[in-house]
Amino acid sequence: MAPPIPPRDRPHDRLIVALDVPDAAAARALVQRLGDAVSFYKIGLELAMSEEFFALLAWLRAQGKDVFVDLKFFDIPETVARAVRALSRHGARFCTVHGNQAMMEAAARAKGDTLKVLAVTALTSLDRGDLDDLGFRCDVGELVLSRARRALAAGCDGVVSSGLEVERLRREAPRELIVVTPGIRPLDNTAESDQKRVMTPARALQAGADYLVVGRPIRDAADPRAAAQAIQREIAAV
Ligand code: C5P
Repeated sequence: MAPPIPPRDRPHDRLIVALDVPDAAAARALVQRLGDAVSFYKIGLELAMSEEFFALLAWLRAQGKDVFVDLKFFDIPETVARAVRALSRHGARFCTVHGNQAMMEAAARAKGDTLKVLAVTALTSLDRGDLDDLGFRCDVGELVLSRARRALAAGCDGVVSSGLEVERLRREAPRELIVVTPGIRPLDNTAESDQKRVMTPARALQAGADYLVVGRPIRDAADPRAAAQAIQREIAAV
């Protein structure tokens, strides 16, 4: 008999909803509205500027939800290590770190047993022109792959990558790399967006993404629960 599937491998847990809302009350309202349609949430910079960031994290955990703390740490290695160590005591499952080898190594050393560190590769809001402006002359795919390899070598667990780079990561980076993909746009979502390298949920999963991060297409939907359920059906079908 096949071993039971660990809970984290359930398709349902592969949708991470970004709680990009101004305060904990708005976050709790959205989580309650989504109910059992979503089991994994990302909290980031906007909520970190509100007073109840850690109370919200604890509340999400008490609701049985997984939490991705996306603060994209970027500082001297000692400071990054201390921030990651402090965060590791709060029960989050993923956090993000930018940067060079020393920063990623510091984060990996400090993460403990349960918190996984994801390295930011190239923001999904950046296109070729933006990367040129930042001085990255190489191909985006090349840049993402090189960051992914360096992240694993540094002891990190995975990367945040646009869906467009996932196929290549799956082909050329070690399989244990966790790939989390934001910039997801369901086909029927035509809202204007600052995300330049976007993909549908099904395409990102087929390309090899492990988790999808979806913010505005759910937050701004007339019926957020129905929007989340539609994405869950798409995930289950893949
Ligand atoms: O609203 P939308 O679905 O575009 O939300 C994208 C979310 O993913 C935001 O919370 C943003 O911070 C995050 N993100 C991203 N690109 C990355 C890393 C995180 O868009 N490379």
